Amino acid sequence: MIRSKLPDVGTTIFTVMSRLAIEHQAINLGQGFPDFDPDPRLCELVTKAMAAGHNQYPYMPGVAALREAIAEKISGLYGHAYDPETEITVTSGATEALMATVLAAVNSGDEVVVIEPCYDSYLPAIRLAGGTAVPVPLRAPTAQDPYYRIDWQRVRDAITSRTRLLMLNFPHNPTGAVLDESDLDALESIVRDTGVLLLSDEVYEHIVFDGKPHASLSRRPLLAEHAFVISSFGKTYHATGWKMGYCCAPRQLSAELRKVHQFMVFTVSTPMQVALAEYMRDPKPYMELPAFYQAKRERLAEGLRQTRFKPLPSPGTFFMLADYSEISSQSEAEFAKWLTMEHGVTVIPVSAFYQRPDEEASNHGLVRFCFAKKDGTLDQAIERLRGV
Ligand SMILES: Cc1ncc(COP(=O)(O)O)c(C=O)c1O
Repeated sequence: MIRSKLPDVGTTIFTVMSRLAIEHQAINLGQGFPDFDPDPRLCELVTKAMAAGHNQYPYMPGVAALREAIAEKISGLYGHAYDPETEITVTSGATEALMATVLAAVNSGDEVVVIEPCYDSYLPAIRLAGGTAVPVPLRAPTAQDPYYRIDWQRVRDAITSRTRLLMLNFPHNPTGAVLDESDLDALESIVRDTGVLLLSDEVYEHIVFDGKPHASLSRRPLLAEHAFVISSFGKTYHATGWKMGYCCAPRQLSAELRKVHQFMVFTVSTPMQVALAEYMRDPKPYMELPAFYQAKRERLAEGLRQTRFKPLPSPGTFFMLADYSEISSQSEAEFAKWLTMEHGVTVIPVSAFYQRPDEEASNHGLVRFCFAKKDGTLDQAIERLRGV
């Protein structure tokens, strides 16, 4: 027998729900991936790269052309000049960048402040590094303010002399919350006072709605100096199965990140990198992404309003929360299973994004819908939900 390093981790709720969806032939609006393909031109570029002989190990931190394309995009959009040679690392999805950052930055006994609800890989990563997670809840919507927000005073209060890292994820999965300039001001003041390191998971950077710009931490020099900024091509280019992402951080932080990356995966798929470098020359695909997903957001929200679910506003990401308290008083996990089995639509309980999913404090009668789906899929799901 081995002594488990992650004794509390079982099969994730995403896998459980997806399996249940298949078993019951349910429409899966649970797990966050598109049910449509990437641009065929992007796929052709991968084939072309393979035919051109780009099939062996690339340079450990990533193909130079791709790191240069990433640097150019960030400098154009957010105004920060990362050095592609020393400050940008291509990773096996954002997931690897998250794990490598936490393993590089967090030592045994360190505390890591996380905002709850949080993406499911954060807590196990902290645990594997020997750190302790210190959750700070997002402020829930109220009648006066329908958005989830960070309570910066609570974040400040959670930071101690043992805090090594503050993990942020905006646009936020699962609530769709985004940051604005005043949030960046508050964060700057915390960093100035505490010197805390930041991990900013910005995988939904190109999915921000209502004409708002994305508040990347790389917009502010002080924040960029303290941050590992992580993104994912999977979300931006409808190719979650490719597992391609990257991490930008100042030279010294990147050097430590690369030491871990080097021995976790060494490097990532060459033809994918070559293809993405070429594809990124055209900014149109990511510039058009907000409008593309905003139409789907409207479609789902409009549809849900015809049901007994109450959709919450979603300022970013391709997720939307909905309140089901008019339908049932079951726990979120029970309700999600029941909805799959009885009505053939799969969603994710928001409690799955909390450290203690079964507790009452983690259950608010909310489930998460993913609208990265064909219009026909969304319409079909709504049709079924009308019967609930
Ligand atoms: C907040 C967040 N971070 C990271 C990831 C993982 O990204 P990737 O598929 O590039 O590893 C996801 C995927 O759902 C996510 O929602």
